[in-house]
Amino acid sequence: MSAIALRPYLPADAPLLAALFRAAIAELTGEDYDTEQQEAWAAKADDAEAFAARLAASLTLVALRGKEVAGFVSLKDNAHIDMLYVAPDAAGTGVAKALCDAAETLAKARGSRKLTVDASDTALGFFQKRGYEPQRRNMVPLADTWLANTDMEKKLGEDDAGPRH
Ligand SMILES: CC(C)(COP(=O)(O)OP(=O)(O)OC[C@H]1O[C@@H](n2cnc3c(N)ncnc32)[C@H](O)[C@@H]1OP(=O)(O)O)[C@@H](O)C(=O)NCCC(=O)NCCS
Repeated sequence: MSAIALRPYLPADAPLLAALFRAAIAELTGEDYDTEQQEAWAAKADDAEAFAARLAASLTLVALRGKEVAGFVSLKDNAHIDMLYVAPDAAGTGVAKALCDAAETLAKARGSRKLTVDASDTALGFFQKRGYEPQRRNMVPLADTWLANTDMEKKLGEDDAGPRH
């Protein structure tokens, strides 16, 4: 299997990332959310302009395996993981780990002392394994349904270079 490479998001990536977002929800979250919930969640990518603006408003990194886009992470305000999605055929191969490692390194280098995420039930174990601690359980209204997620927080270590504020 080829190595994972990361690069910054480009505006031209938006349609592909929207498709990846929908596919990840449809194929990876079925054990935790029902079809109505998955559809409501995936519909967040239906407004292409708004979805592209959301990606551009954060520091978004794209993971590549060979030439294939395998996932992406969006780091908002150097302090919050807004989105983390992996292509179904790349799941379980370390793509989210590579993206999260990079997001945490960047956040730390830019002075953040902690990172937060509203973790889906699907991603809860992934984040827990990385040292994120659950803070609060949420029920988020979306379309005609509710989606559960968990606010999580990770303190970033003191062992980095770079100023903090
Ligand atoms: C959650 C998600 C991002 C994980 O991506 P992934 O690329 O499969 O994860 P990785 O392969 O990088 O996993 C890294 C490590 O976390 C572990 N892990 C992954 N998902 C896990 C889970 N749900 N529970 C416990 N551990 C998990 C892996 O076993 C691996 O452990 P290892 O390093 O000891 O081998 C992916 O399943 C996804 O896109 N889900 C749908 C969208 C979603 O819920 N996004 C999060 C929104 S907050």
